[in-house]
Amino acid sequence: MPEVDESEREKQFYTDIPVKNRPFFLKGCNNLDWGMKNRLSKIFNPKTGKTVMLAIDHGYFQGPTTGLERVDVTILPLLPYADTLMLTRGILRAIIPPTFDKGIVLRASGGPSVLNELSNEEIAIDIDEAIRLNVAAMAVQVFIGGQFETKSVHNMTRLVDMGNRYGIPVLGVTAVGKDMGRDAKYMRLASRILAELGVTYVKTYYTEKDFDTVTASCPVPIVIAGGKKLPEKDALTMAYRAIQDGAAGVDMGRNIFQSDSPVAMIKAIRKIVHDREKPEAAFEFFLEEKNRLEGNKKRKT
Ligand code: R5P
Repeated sequence: MPEVDESEREKQFYTDIPVKNRPFFLKGCNNLDWGMKNRLSKIFNPKTGKTVMLAIDHGYFQGPTTGLERVDVTILPLLPYADTLMLTRGILRAIIPPTFDKGIVLRASGGPSVLNELSNEEIAIDIDEAIRLNVAAMAVQVFIGGQFETKSVHNMTRLVDMGNRYGIPVLGVTAVGKDMGRDAKYMRLASRILAELGVTYVKTYYTEKDFDTVTASCPVPIVIAGGKKLPEKDALTMAYRAIQDGAAGVDMGRNIFQSDSPVAMIKAIRKIVHDREKPEAAFEFFLEEKNRLEGNKKRKT
């Protein structure tokens, strides 16, 4: 007999308490394995079911993007307010402290620069590397309607197979080329194809009209990209409407790191996403926070 459990206390089996079967908090994710769900819980806040992903991967095709020239200077101060960081392995290794303990969504496709046809991407990472970097998800660009549509779809399905093998979610990014539509009809088509072919969640653009039909017809969570820099109030309004229309959060870059006050902006975005704050109140908060931070800076100089 092993000399374990020598306790003299009577065993308690709580036979009157049925085991609870709790559904997972994210749409379409209930049948995923434990590791996947655990990783998704490092991206989405289980209390609100939402996420504020900070996207800083733009350099993978456009080099030192405005606001990202020095990630160490401009982005590190934002980390405490991001639920998740979306970036390339180069910036991750070179600049992000390994003590960062929230989710990393790793850019996993690439190839062409802004000087060439963007849809001509390949998978740009090995699954071993994603595991080594302990990422919470891998992100792949998919160009529905683009010149290399089939190739980018196959990049995605191969990544989904690799991710499923090791329990790593895949974020499918509906990439919109220069001449492609940005309306709900296009986003429904693209998002649904990505979900049907296996991505764990989808990133798409917000559409002024009928965005609720984009989220409704996509069986997995959708987060919105921020797109080009807008005035802060407009960006907050867009995030608010997207959440009202069923988005599970934002994956926002330029509207945060190109803001006059990136820290104030990411904090205001959190109010919208996690606290369901109205855009007017979140904008007021942004202005107050911006003034406060500028005041602090002046006092220090
Ligand atoms: C673009 O391809 C990048 O993957 C970005 O992550 C994405 O566009 C989100 O950033 P932004 O809010 O600046 O559009």
